[in-house]
Amino acid sequence: MMKIDIARMKVYVTRQIPEPGIPLLKEYFDVVVRDRPGPISKQELLENVCDIDGLLCLLTDPVDADVIAAAGELECISNYAVGFNNIDVSAATERRIVVTNTPGVLTDTTADFAFALLMAAARRVPEADTFLRAGKFIGWDPMLMLGCDVYGKTLGVVGFGKIGRSLAMRARGFDMKVFYYDSIRATESDEASLGVTYSSLQDILKQCDFVSLHVPLTDETRHLIGREQLKVMKPTAILINTSRGPVVDEQALAEALRDGAIAGAGLDVFEDEPRVNALLASLSNVVLVPHIASASLETRSMMAKLAAENLIAALSGERPKFIVNPEVLGE
Ligand code: GLV
Ligand code: GLV
Repeated sequence: MMKIDIARMKVYVTRQIPEPGIPLLKEYFDVVVRDRPGPISKQELLENVCDIDGLLCLLTDPVDADVIAAAGELECISNYAVGFNNIDVSAATERRIVVTNTPGVLTDTTADFAFALLMAAARRVPEADTFLRAGKFIGWDPMLMLGCDVYGKTLGVVGFGKIGRSLAMRARGFDMKVFYYDSIRATESDEASLGVTYSSLQDILKQCDFVSLHVPLTDETRHLIGREQLKVMKPTAILINTSRGPVVDEQALAEALRDGAIAGAGLDVFEDEPRVNALLASLSNVVLVPHIASASLETRSMMAKLAAENLIAALSGERPKFIVNPEVLGE
């Protein structure tokens, strides 16, 4: 990539990100990295976007229509995430601001983690760890911490994009029978090579031992899993969510877990992060982790590189590798 001599373009980064993200940006631009803990507020964003050309932001940052309106010079919003529901993409598109994301590099890492949550919930790993540390392990016990098997069971993958497919491949190694649902059906040859069966969401909920969510958050997927859906699931079923919190009605899920309507859950994401529903947090049949599915050293570093490269390309007038609103480029 050529060095731009329209140097001194201003880039604002809302949080420290792993190497080599910032050094890469600094080769080209005048970079300000926000140096405070915790996610940036809308107010602080508004105060910092007025004279910037590029924004590198996180999935926690509310880049809504007001923020976009306040950013008169802005040409590119590079999201350090695959999901981009934190950005008002249509407001950005209207202003011809390029929006980019970081798909691909986190696929396997996120699928690994979805499977880790599935295993942890099925075999009660965190609960057992807490039990042991509390000094309650007084000797091997035939009745202690009985979970449920994973191998040979049925898995329903809801949302069959890169991550959903990657999870399906892992499940095959455990001899699981995999069903999937997506608004777009995969090709017959993909279904054959992945060994998966297309199914309705309703049938997946009714029949599967494990259900794992891999849809983006949109108006259509908000509360995709609510009271009605939880009711049709098996009482032995386990729900895994590594997508976005609002895809699940958290209060309905908490009540279903409390009442034994389903057996367990593994959750990486929450409706109103970082807040976690109090009932949910009081239950032992749910594994709760703080939105870390893509959090491997390798992957977070690749995301940083990709987010920086996307921003550099867009501000240099080149096509970024991953653009969310290609219509801005007349495509
Ligand atoms: C993580 O949640 C991401 O969207 O990258
Ligand atoms: C379990 O530890 C066994 O030996 O059965």
